[in-house]
Amino acid sequence: MTEQATRPVEARAIGSHHDRVDGPEKVTGRAAYAVEHGEADGVIDPLHVWLVQSTVAKGRVTRVDSAASLAHPGVVAVLDHTNAPRLDDTDNGELAILQDDRVGFRGQIVALVLAETPEAAREGAALVAVGYDQEPHEAELRVDNATYRPDQVNPAMETDTDEGDVDAALASADVVVDQDYRTAYEHNNPLEPHATLAWWGQEGDREVLSMFDSTQGVHGVVQALAPMLGLQPEQVRVRAPYVGGGFGSKGEAHSHVMAAALAARTTHGRPVKLAVTRQQMFALTGYRTATISHVRLGAAADGTLVAIEHAVQEQTSVVREFAEQTAAPTRMMYAAPNRRTSHRLARLDVAVPSWMRAPGEMPGMFAHEVAMDELAVACGVDPIVLRERNEPDIDPESGKPFHQRRLVECLHRGADRFGWEDRPPEPRTTADGDWWVGTGVASATYPAMRSPGNAARVLALGKGRYAVSIGAVDIGTGARTVLTQIAADALDVSPAAIDLAIADTRLPAASVAGGSSGTSSWGTAIVAAAQRFRADHGPSPDAGVETTASAADNPAEEEFAFHSFGAVFAEARVNRWTGEVRVPRLLGVYSVGRVINPMTAHSQLVGGLVMGLSAALFETSYRDARFGHVVTQDLATYHVASHADVLDVDAEWLEESDQVFTPAGGRGIGEIGIVGTAAAVANAAFHATGTRVRSIPITAGELLD
Ligand code: MOS
Repeated sequence: MTEQATRPVEARAIGSHHDRVDGPEKVTGRAAYAVEHGEADGVIDPLHVWLVQSTVAKGRVTRVDSAASLAHPGVVAVLDHTNAPRLDDTDNGELAILQDDRVGFRGQIVALVLAETPEAAREGAALVAVGYDQEPHEAELRVDNATYRPDQVNPAMETDTDEGDVDAALASADVVVDQDYRTAYEHNNPLEPHATLAWWGQEGDREVLSMFDSTQGVHGVVQALAPMLGLQPEQVRVRAPYVGGGFGSKGEAHSHVMAAALAARTTHGRPVKLAVTRQQMFALTGYRTATISHVRLGAAADGTLVAIEHAVQEQTSVVREFAEQTAAPTRMMYAAPNRRTSHRLARLDVAVPSWMRAPGEMPGMFAHEVAMDELAVACGVDPIVLRERNEPDIDPESGKPFHQRRLVECLHRGADRFGWEDRPPEPRTTADGDWWVGTGVASATYPAMRSPGNAARVLALGKGRYAVSIGAVDIGTGARTVLTQIAADALDVSPAAIDLAIADTRLPAASVAGGSSGTSSWGTAIVAAAQRFRADHGPSPDAGVETTASAADNPAEEEFAFHSFGAVFAEARVNRWTGEVRVPRLLGVYSVGRVINPMTAHSQLVGGLVMGLSAALFETSYRDARFGHVVTQDLATYHVASHADVLDVDAEWLEESDQVFTPAGGRGIGEIGIVGTAAAVANAAFHATGTRVRSIPITAGELLD
């Protein structure tokens, strides 16, 4: 009963350190990931699927000869476009595999081999002979691609914006920065490769497709697959109890998920396991498009902006459109009366680009924040002062007031902690032995998002304990832990009194773990369910009573622009003989609303900073335009920052709570750490050497010129 009295503020779970509730499961190896599920979960006698992938970038499949493969003792079946189950709907060209003979990109799935063991499946795949009628392809993003204007950019934003007279303002500006900035193709590379386990069965008089999928959103998988398979949503059950990261690449189902569903369709109930290899991930499970940003900034002599233009060129795929919203942050970041943004796409014979941590903000803020550094240099104004001078009174994009825009406080707090005061204004003034030393700063921002359509259930278990359930997925971020904390406070009990169930489409609907919106969206649904539960059942409910409720819309979203902000500070050391760049110090200071759990939040923010550092210095997927595929297909040739690259990286946040945005007070933290970070590193490298690099990853050769 004491649990149910109102607990003092210091006993509240939100805002305090809480060990990961699934830590013991993970470190002891008991946590089962997608294809690890076995008999305990009804997975009996599974078959294994291997992908056969196109070796040409464009054309038609003329022949699939499976005879040698089928002669392999372990191989059970080979599916291709002539014998695979038909789909009801093929509008999603990425998922509509094996429906016709067309090849849209190199690495596309052209056949599936089902076998008794993974080894037999792999050998069987190597024995399938595929003939092609090859056509000329275009697989390289270049400034001279033919482009088109998409109707909208991800997720549903305007393609172009145009306000005032940018050209006239630039013509009369005292100072103009006019440059192209580029970001590389990047692959998300979560620790756990994509994987799906699927089987068809009967529940009463209806067919049901069951899946364990390594996904960021179980409900999203159902929404994507069910109509294509001619099923009602209730006929597909997807679970994802443990997921080893996603970084956006598991935010939407990619073609391997459909491959597993189609393969399982043919096995008379035997489950199939499809584990994508690391190499295959570079071909078909999503990546960040390369971007080319043409930025023009016009300013008065003191750096006050009069015009901002950001014109973006990037790629999409012939099989399905994806339009990265690269200029989106430019629309709301700084004040200027004349402003224009645009996005144009080159439709290439390549796999479909998709979400990767801060799609839009990450490449866009690289361009914008390096351009701002160039403007600061051109005007002889400190980069922090320049940003302060261009603070908008209201959101330039929506015209609404910002709720808690604390960018300047982040810049000042970071400057104090980083020692910005002692920074020499001129570049290439500090050396330490063979190393030029410099520092740089960049702003960060990310929109606060809450997705619609979330619900949660609270069930009294008796003795002050509660089962709380929602179909949300914890991809390793700590969602299970922070939702337990939010549920505990909402029900006014200790976190130990909460049994949280997640990641199953049989639980109340939940939005994707994406857009830094998970905690806001799911947490708000849990608070709504807890409040309704208390209203319905009082403080001492009988065991067995339950309430399900949805989160209501937030009317304040009509009134305010909700964004998080941050300031990233980097020190770069550049070897004067080799051009090697090291980043001994990286610091981010953020305004993100209430931090629900300081431990998991710190991990998210530092993880974002490391990923930004990695983008600045290392990450690039090298596409061989002659053949159309990505040749860097492993973590040796696609280098992700490792321990030796990551030195002193830290993140902190301003004390605040945004209860106008969410009842728990948070605005989301998953992505902002990567935003602006590569720009801070590039700006520091400029300050060290006096050489301006406008593309990432920064290469040693560019700094030696
Ligand atoms: Mo995140 S890239 O929105 O999954």
